[in-house]
Amino acid sequence: MEKMKDLVEKVQFEGDQVTCIPQELQMIGQGRSASVFRMKGTDIAIKIFYPGFEHLAHIEGDVYQKLNNHEFFPAFFEKGEGYITMQYVEGITFYDCLVNGVAITDEMVQRVDEALEFACNLGFNPSDTHLKNILLTTDGQVKVIDVVRFTQEFDCPHWRDLKKAYETFYQRRYVPKKIPAFFIEFIIKLYRRRLLPI
Ligand SMILES: Nc1ncnc2c1ncn2[C@@H]1O[C@H](COP(=O)(O)OP(=O)(O)OP(=O)(O)O)[C@@H](O)[C@H]1O
Ligand SMILES: [Mg+2]
Repeated sequence: MEKMKDLVEKVQFEGDQVTCIPQELQMIGQGRSASVFRMKGTDIAIKIFYPGFEHLAHIEGDVYQKLNNHEFFPAFFEKGEGYITMQYVEGITFYDCLVNGVAITDEMVQRVDEALEFACNLGFNPSDTHLKNILLTTDGQVKVIDVVRFTQEFDCPHWRDLKKAYETFYQRRYVPKKIPAFFIEFIIKLYRRRLLPI
């Protein structure tokens, strides 16, 4: 197999835009600090940080190492210059669950709580756990991804607020379980601007 570093070097970015993807890789997601690719035909996911965010690879790699391949998180493989490799998790994010009308159950929410509590007990401050950072796997497990901000010190209310929204709105019988992406994005925008009464 081609060395991972060589493969990563073939991926080209202009800011957060990916301009070149080698044929061995398939893009599986994008966030604010990185793009994530699956190595075709394997269960390896490669998270490659955008220019200017490369230092986060070491931070996230160290967090994964301490999480020690617990089932609440993707298994960790290695870290390199500006990238980390981990288990490719077959599944959909909680965000996709909302868009596609896949029910988010109490049990799934409980699993996220357990994952974050597990991280807390290791001395982390779980942060940035939002709808796109939680995966429901095809066999019904829940995994928290994107642990890079678990080392930050200030309090992050995201998961707490999501849970509040889950309990206050989502669980009501008349609230639709399938929500158009544009509407979720609108709510996220309002939330970020602190315009929601939450
Ligand atoms: N191990 C994985 N298996 C499957 N999909 C993944 C995996 N890691 C990341 N993804 C997908 O890639 C997306 C972006 O990854 P990630 O959240 O790690 O990037 P980020 O830039 O740190 O995100 P954020 O905007 O939350 O800071 C995720 O929302 C998810 O859809
Ligand atoms: Mg993310």
